[in-house]
Amino acid sequence: MIHRIACDQVRLGMYVHKLGGSWFAHPFWRNRRLLDTAEEVEAVRASGLPYVEIDDERGLAPERIASAASRPERTTPPAPIWSGPRSKTAPDTLRAAERKRAVDLVDRSRRVMKRVFESARLGRAIRMAEVAHVVEEVTAAVTRNAQTLLGVIRLKSKDEYTYYHSVAVCTLMVNCGRHLGLPDAEVEQLGFAGLLHDIGKMGIPESILNKAGSLTDEEFDLVRGHPAHGHGLLVDAGDMPDMALDVCLHHHEKVDGSGYPFGLSADRLSLAARLGAICDVYDALTSDRIYKAGWPPVEAVAAMWSWDGHFDRVLLFRFMQSIGVFPTGMLVTLRSNRLGLVLENSRRASRPRVCAFYDTRANAFLPPETVTLRDDLSGDQIVAPELPERWGFRDWDAMAERLAKGENLNA
Ligand SMILES: [Fe+2]
Repeated sequence: MIHRIACDQVRLGMYVHKLGGSWFAHPFWRNRRLLDTAEEVEAVRASGLPYVEIDDERGLAPERIASAASRPERTTPPAPIWSGPRSKTAPDTLRAAERKRAVDLVDRSRRVMKRVFESARLGRAIRMAEVAHVVEEVTAAVTRNAQTLLGVIRLKSKDEYTYYHSVAVCTLMVNCGRHLGLPDAEVEQLGFAGLLHDIGKMGIPESILNKAGSLTDEEFDLVRGHPAHGHGLLVDAGDMPDMALDVCLHHHEKVDGSGYPFGLSADRLSLAARLGAICDVYDALTSDRIYKAGWPPVEAVAAMWSWDGHFDRVLLFRFMQSIGVFPTGMLVTLRSNRLGLVLENSRRASRPRVCAFYDTRANAFLPPETVTLRDDLSGDQIVAPELPERWGFRDWDAMAERLAKGENLNA
């Protein structure tokens, strides 16, 4: 639901749907955004704009709605935070049919990408119409049932990894682009970028790509050359979306400037390039390879969250929201204005569970409540990561242990 409130009522964790007044006075270049730093909140408060519209489906709800009459009608449906299977009670046959559809799509797309990559290796033109068709089909499948497609791409075969990986990164980028509320044209470009980001690997022998041990200096130089090589291929293809060129060249950069090929830091990397780096690594970590078993998704996001300076952490959190996977033990804010601890997922549970234990408006502990996050927008949602120190939780590890056992910290 959209709420219209005064600028001085905005709080950390709210999602700005629209800023009122002249755009000349707007503090951000893009209207829609999650307010996840104190500076952003301050920028809105100090803007002097007449009002701000807050979307409570993507962030914290305002404490009170000014008036029902001031509530504008939503013109487009929101992108789901985590769009999974539509109904718990959906017949097994429907689920099986949807899964079969996703398996067929991934297999079809893998074959297209194999043709595209082999054409590139032979110096032939990239057939853009074929690539565009894959993007279109993946986008339609993500819109229909993202969780099924995300599940299928994770269980892909070890063989022909590069082609499956292209389809997987395409899916993850389209899914996250929709979650971020980007326009359709940008989501489509992200899809192209995901499919083609590693096309430069066509210049690297399989024996090096699949090598289990560490690479020699010469081999490493060859690997480090694949972004520029791929970029060259895409430029030659002509008529390539800008994001595909950008992500191909920059998906191995890191926000602290320690990546390759240029060592660019966050301020010189586009959102598409930063998202490309996240989707690329997440899929690589969770995939079975000839030389290693894939990591469980929870372990992959936990590791990525712990790697300082590698990823844009704000974007990484939005990525986690888009796939519905969060590191166990993370302190988070919920849409219901509560703090929660992300609980370990049991093997059978496909949805994240959170122990809600603190009221952020009353600044008080609550009896712990285990919340299973739903795959639609009707229930509670994780809206932001939190620092335990900010709430005065000195020994967060010990607290988390007690909460995970179901202890009432209010008692
Ligand atoms: Fe790469």
